[in-house]
Amino acid sequence: MKKIVLSLIAFAAFGSAAAIETLTSPDSQIKLTFDLTPEGAPEYSVTYKGKAIVKPSTLGFTLKDDAPLIDRFKQGKVTYSSTDETWVPVWGENDSIANRYNEMTVPLSQKAGGKTRKMNIVFRAYDDGVGFRYVFPRQSTKEFTITDELSQFALTGDHTAWWIPGDYDTQEYKYTRSRLSDIRATSEGARMHNLSQTGFSPTGVQTSLMLKTDDGLYINLHEAALIDYPAMHLNLDDSTMTFTSWLTPDINGDKAVVTTPFKTPWRTIMVSDKATDILASDLILNLNDPCVIDDTSWIHPTKYMGVWWEMITNKSSWAYCDAENFDLATFDYSKATPNGRHGANNENVKRYIDFAADAGMDQLLVEGWNIGWEDWSGKEKEYVFDFLTPYPDFDIDSLNAYAKSKGIKLMMHHETSGSIPNYEKYIDRAYDLMNRYGYDAVKSGYVGNILPKGENHYNQKSVRHYLECVKKAADKHIMVNAHEAVRPTGLCRTYPNLVGNESACGTEYQSFGGLPTAHVTILPFTRLQGGPMDYTPGIFRMNISEFAPGNTSHVNSTVANQLALYLTMYSPLQMAADFPEHYAEKADAFQFIKDVPVDWSKSVYLDAEPGEFIVVARKDKKSENWYVGGVNAEEPREFILDLDFLDPGKNYEATIYSDTDDAHYLTNPEAYQITRRKAGAESRIKLHMAPGGGFAISLKEI
Ligand code: NOJ
Ligand code: CA
Repeated sequence: MKKIVLSLIAFAAFGSAAAIETLTSPDSQIKLTFDLTPEGAPEYSVTYKGKAIVKPSTLGFTLKDDAPLIDRFKQGKVTYSSTDETWVPVWGENDSIANRYNEMTVPLSQKAGGKTRKMNIVFRAYDDGVGFRYVFPRQSTKEFTITDELSQFALTGDHTAWWIPGDYDTQEYKYTRSRLSDIRATSEGARMHNLSQTGFSPTGVQTSLMLKTDDGLYINLHEAALIDYPAMHLNLDDSTMTFTSWLTPDINGDKAVVTTPFKTPWRTIMVSDKATDILASDLILNLNDPCVIDDTSWIHPTKYMGVWWEMITNKSSWAYCDAENFDLATFDYSKATPNGRHGANNENVKRYIDFAADAGMDQLLVEGWNIGWEDWSGKEKEYVFDFLTPYPDFDIDSLNAYAKSKGIKLMMHHETSGSIPNYEKYIDRAYDLMNRYGYDAVKSGYVGNILPKGENHYNQKSVRHYLECVKKAADKHIMVNAHEAVRPTGLCRTYPNLVGNESACGTEYQSFGGLPTAHVTILPFTRLQGGPMDYTPGIFRMNISEFAPGNTSHVNSTVANQLALYLTMYSPLQMAADFPEHYAEKADAFQFIKDVPVDWSKSVYLDAEPGEFIVVARKDKKSENWYVGGVNAEEPREFILDLDFLDPGKNYEATIYSDTDDAHYLTNPEAYQITRRKAGAESRIKLHMAPGGGFAISLKEI
């Protein structure tokens, strides 16, 4: 690892008329300037290749019962440093990551009420964007209660945006593509129903927010290293096209209580004239701290199946019986009449174990294994699960032993139903139970309103909880995949046992009325910026009513599109979400899911446009083989794939899984073809991508 840090004392100014400070990216294409306004307000702006990206924008806070940290600042000695290093992730899209940036620290102080308050702002410029954070040094004020963070992002025009409505509780929304000026009018219509949702403004949106200017620049706004602080949303002033940060409030309506010394998360602005650069950016990971887990040998990328899609489609149930409104502490399951639909029963779980083991999967998720599901959702009930007691027809001991005998593990499921106090009460025992039976991965979930009543999914207290679970899990060598938790901000660099999150509409929404075809061409630009998503791809039967009577939803995707998702939706945790019998029907296509790796030495984004298509090539970490995936939205597309990313002089056997000419996500979604040919770095492959279609290719070295 190479690391050069040079510190230069740049300029010292006290009082008014501080000089403008400039920070430049290592390749000199991005410039950030900082100054204090005549009122002493901190202000920054950003340009890319000479074009304004962020116009002068002010930074600061309002505080409870205290003067605001907005203006009347004095600037101290500004310091600069540079870093050029590479680091090795435990898992990832690439086996090493370059972290090259220039940094500028602006020390600020302000006199208020006889006290001097100190607030530094640290800026970093990378070749793919900038980040800044507030740092409150140790000072006489021990605690600040923040009522608003006012970080502005003054944009240069009425850009095109891919956005979901601002919400304190859910990111499970379909994306809207609109001009910034149309957010206000379309926001209410964009708010699909969720069991827990709390909007705050008709021009509020969530991050990561993807933008495109009329002259073809791609801009992305997000945050990195969200620790002990509420999640940041953005609120647009659509008369000036200026976004201001909008934090998720706590139960009292305050935004955050911070104890000095304290660092806020980074606010990030990615920019490029190439869409593929946004997908390939490591900015968010680089702004997070290095891994703090000494021994990471137990953390492993994982491919899994699940007793899951059958509950999601309502073919079977999580619940064992049909009781309702009961107290878990006194309910007697031995006297209950089974409903005959319980998915997690011994026989069915064994059937999945057999198939998953034969297919070379690492794990099998089983949901509905534990008592409490009869009375769990939307009830705001505190004691809803104990995470310890299996249903009478789920023999935890023998099923784990059976899985082990077949060379796979069961994956644990902890649905909390939003009752954080209850989960915190049981979590040690729940993780110990996992250790006892040999589970090393848990999918957790926070469906419904957070308890105690009045708390939200994305406020400071909840954010603290999610990370505490990840840390505790690390101590017990457990990997975590949390659904409905706060969206990720690159913390998987520091805690690589955080192998997945949901925090967006995943495949389950194909069973709840369907997803637009563009969805999977937007997620990598937005949700995936902060970390991998447990999207749960691999659905092979698109007409759900054929196997789950009464569910009229349709999976808006072709089979080839489903295969491509294993490449385009990067994750070290990938599910093969469909049923064994559906995979048996299409064993030739399932071969790709069996083959596709979940860890990579190199990734090359070949072409992309948000809302339209994404094509990416990845090299297996354990072999010389390459895999390519392309997903397409509504318009049919002919794509010429140039294989010049392959190692020159090597020969490969290409197996191409693609849409047939007449495939279509609605009318002919299961039509695919598989062709084989020899290929090398000089080859080009012509591919047809159907509406809602795509392709997946394995390139095995000969
Ligand atoms: C919502 C999750 O996203 C889904 O995957 C899970 O099956 C249900 N909650 C039940 O926990
Ligand atoms: Ca969910």
